[in-house]
Amino acid sequence: MKNFLDAVKNRRSIYGITNKSPIPDEKIIEIINTAVKHTPSAFNGQSQRVVVLFGDSHKKLWQIVENTLRKIVPEENFSSTKQKIGSFSAGYGTILYFDETNTTKSLQEQFPLYKDNFEVWAEHQNAMLQFVIWTALEDAGFGASLQHYNPLIDEEVKNTFQIPPSWRLIAQMPFGLPTSPAGEKEFLPLSERIIVKK
Ligand SMILES: Cc1cc2nc3c(=O)[nH]c(=O)nc-3n(C[C@H](O)[C@H](O)[C@H](O)COP(=O)(O)O)c2cc1C
Repeated sequence: MKNFLDAVKNRRSIYGITNKSPIPDEKIIEIINTAVKHTPSAFNGQSQRVVVLFGDSHKKLWQIVENTLRKIVPEENFSSTKQKIGSFSAGYGTILYFDETNTTKSLQEQFPLYKDNFEVWAEHQNAMLQFVIWTALEDAGFGASLQHYNPLIDEEVKNTFQIPPSWRLIAQMPFGLPTSPAGEKEFLPLSERIIVKK
């Protein structure tokens, strides 16, 4: 792993990806295992869950997205939608991010004082995990992006991949060997975003 802050700077949304990997699948799983184990969670509840899709399973996911959107996107706009979905499908794999909702419910019961916070924290801790995996994949030579076709695809994804009923889909992260660099990105002046007091 390069310097942590260099890896943070290098992580971008990469949309041009192919069905190739710079590292063996075991290394990808090692990245995911480390990230899932060590990313923090409120009260150490560990409600984050992931499903890693390779090969046919990865293709199947993007076919579900295409079939679902075909039913709701107007015909005249569908070719650009299909092209976009095809660019994710062209990748090497996809990571699905979930929250295990029974964990979140049980924490709400155990700690009624924080009841309203747990669903927010479920999102926070999931986002932390997404960021760790996104950054680590790009550090390993992949390009990745973050997508949100939930809740439209939830039921079909659950049935197709036999996902436990208590897992709630939060995000999808297609990844693959990058074919084009990230676009230009503008930054607000940090002086507008950070206050330092002594
Ligand atoms: C919470 C969150 C939700 C996002 N949702 C999407 C999304 O649904 N589709 C997408 O293409 N990018 C999505 N993005 C990517 C952002 O557009 C992107 O991170 C931002 O423009 C900065 O660009 P960068 O990732 O290259 O640094 C999301 C990012 C975050 C943090």
